[in-house]
Amino acid sequence: MEIKEQIVNLRAELSQHNYNYYVLSQPTISDFEFDAKLRQLQELETAHPEYFDPSSPTQRVGNDLTQGFTQVEHKYPMLSLGNTYSEADITDFYNRVSKGLDGEEFEIVCELKYDGTSISLTYQNGVLQRAVTRGDGQKGDDVTANVKTIRCIPLKLQGNYPEELEMRGEILMPWKVFEALNVERETQGEPLFANPRNAASGTLKMQNSSQVAKRKLDSYLYYMLGEDLPAESHYECLEAAKGYGFKISDAIRKCKTLKEIFDFIKYWDTERKNLPVATDGIVLKVNSFAQQKKLGYTAKSPRWAIAYKFQAERALTRLIAVTYQVGRTGVITPVANLEPVQLSGTVVKRATLHNADIIESLDLHVDDMVYVEKGGEIIPKITGVDINRRSLFAEKVQFITKCPECGAKLQRLEGEAAHYCPNEDGCPPQIMGKIEHFVSRKAMNIDGLGPEIIDSLYSHGLLKSIADLYLLKVQDIATLEGLGEKSAKKILQGIRSSVEVPFERVLFAIGIRYVGETVAKKLALTLKNIDAIASASIQELTAIDEIGESIAGSVYHYFREQKHIELIQKLKDFGLKMETDSSKMENSSDVLGGKTFVVSGVFAHFSRDGIKETIELNGGKISSSISSKTDFVVAGENMGPAKKQKAEELGVKIIDEDTFIGMLQK
Ligand code: IVH
Repeated sequence: MEIKEQIVNLRAELSQHNYNYYVLSQPTISDFEFDAKLRQLQELETAHPEYFDPSSPTQRVGNDLTQGFTQVEHKYPMLSLGNTYSEADITDFYNRVSKGLDGEEFEIVCELKYDGTSISLTYQNGVLQRAVTRGDGQKGDDVTANVKTIRCIPLKLQGNYPEELEMRGEILMPWKVFEALNVERETQGEPLFANPRNAASGTLKMQNSSQVAKRKLDSYLYYMLGEDLPAESHYECLEAAKGYGFKISDAIRKCKTLKEIFDFIKYWDTERKNLPVATDGIVLKVNSFAQQKKLGYTAKSPRWAIAYKFQAERALTRLIAVTYQVGRTGVITPVANLEPVQLSGTVVKRATLHNADIIESLDLHVDDMVYVEKGGEIIPKITGVDINRRSLFAEKVQFITKCPECGAKLQRLEGEAAHYCPNEDGCPPQIMGKIEHFVSRKAMNIDGLGPEIIDSLYSHGLLKSIADLYLLKVQDIATLEGLGEKSAKKILQGIRSSVEVPFERVLFAIGIRYVGETVAKKLALTLKNIDAIASASIQELTAIDEIGESIAGSVYHYFREQKHIELIQKLKDFGLKMETDSSKMENSSDVLGGKTFVVSGVFAHFSRDGIKETIELNGGKISSSISSKTDFVVAGENMGPAKKQKAEELGVKIIDEDTFIGMLQK
């Protein structure tokens, strides 16, 4: 068989298996066989780049190119739906529709309302061209590269599809993936996602599509648009879409009467809890397109559709007390301690109260009977008080004035809702937070030291500051609960090898307020070592490009405290890098000073990180997306067409790799 034919056949076969597995949930081969075939295709494609096809199943693994998202205008605006909360509201909607249609017969299609982030997919001649987020409804971000990694979204359609077609739907993160992701983020010391919706939309906006591929997003499509649709009504179009290979929910019903609609709602109000993805209501749509047209639109939403939101489950229980948690950055969060109550299948004992203003607006008193709700969030919240059941002697909840962990007097900054504990270096949760930051991936990248271990080492008196990490012994860690010698050795190995971490990351890791990754790099490159940074005056600091008054003030004051000088000395003694690598210095200059670059594509002489580092070492700035502030786009092989167009539109200069190297040599 000819190579080309072999490639084409493998692509078709693998697409079919993708469809069987991710759309129908009925795989017909093992994962092992699938992977073997995919590898075979990958090898053939690498050997024969002339047969490249952006719709090949191999393209679903994503790539490591950093993408900026281009804004794209929607062909049809993406509207939202009016919300309703009761049977009475639905009856009103039904009667409004009936009246608007002058008493004609009509059908209402009932569907689940999926709680993710909406997407618009454009197909031309059956090939996925573009995936765009809702954005402001008029224009959204082009996230095609990321959406291509979602296995249930067809890259090519099957059957007798129209030449041009837009499908809309919801991108979702299944509960299981969401929970596992949060466990991983917790161990990495990264902030958790509040719900699968935020996680899905955060994932769609990631810069690196191969990371998106790992997040295992799912999707349901629920709306077809175009000039040449296969049917005259919504339900029938969705049926056709199923035939093109789209994943369409089976939880759809055509209803004629209000009773049928209420039955659907009642059934799914409980049954939805068994679904693998989050739903937050039911969408009702008039089926016939002609009738939809007759009913028309308001400024914000169609008159032919409405969303019914499920009641967040609510329970009534007694507030026992309010306690306060101190976060890593010193923020105080009030927590309601409750008489245990059953809610959506779990026992709730605590709920967040967010801040002092919320307590005030609820006029909360100790012993109050309070309503607790679990919305889409993991942590339940208090949404109301039953005042009729308040005792005459109940005491109003007073927000604390001193830190519950260290006793320092709390502060509240002008215009901010939160109270802070200012005792950064003496308040236990803040100290532990600093250590968590120090070991995190972008800082010293020490593996295996999750918050629980840090907490345990801290409470055993083995870890009082970041410097103590370098004094830990195998026995210290191994004797802690649940950790054996093997993991202890691995952690120590990680701590030991962290002395190789470059100076700019050490500077970021020590956690000087306002010194993030970029500022740390800038300081390390300009002033070259810690002593120069420590002795720099505010004027010298602000003279550095991009360093303003507040960063300079923070750096200056940090090094005026004896305890910080001592900490740095200790870290120096342990061998941590306190000066910028001289080989880097040799390659550094200011020839690109003041210029902003966007990098796109693959290069012959640099890796992606390499070219960015070179730009920064030579005084240039990196930006992830093209704007009017961009001076140059350095274009390698395979530069995205959207980026090219954007650069041309804005008149930004596009240069190739050789021209870039030429600039460095000037
Ligand atoms: S139809 C004009 N159907 O809910 C009608 N939307 O406020 C367009 N959603 O932005 C939407 N499930 O993100 C429709 N089965 C469903 C849906 C659904 C979830 C989301 C969608 C939309 C929002 C409506």
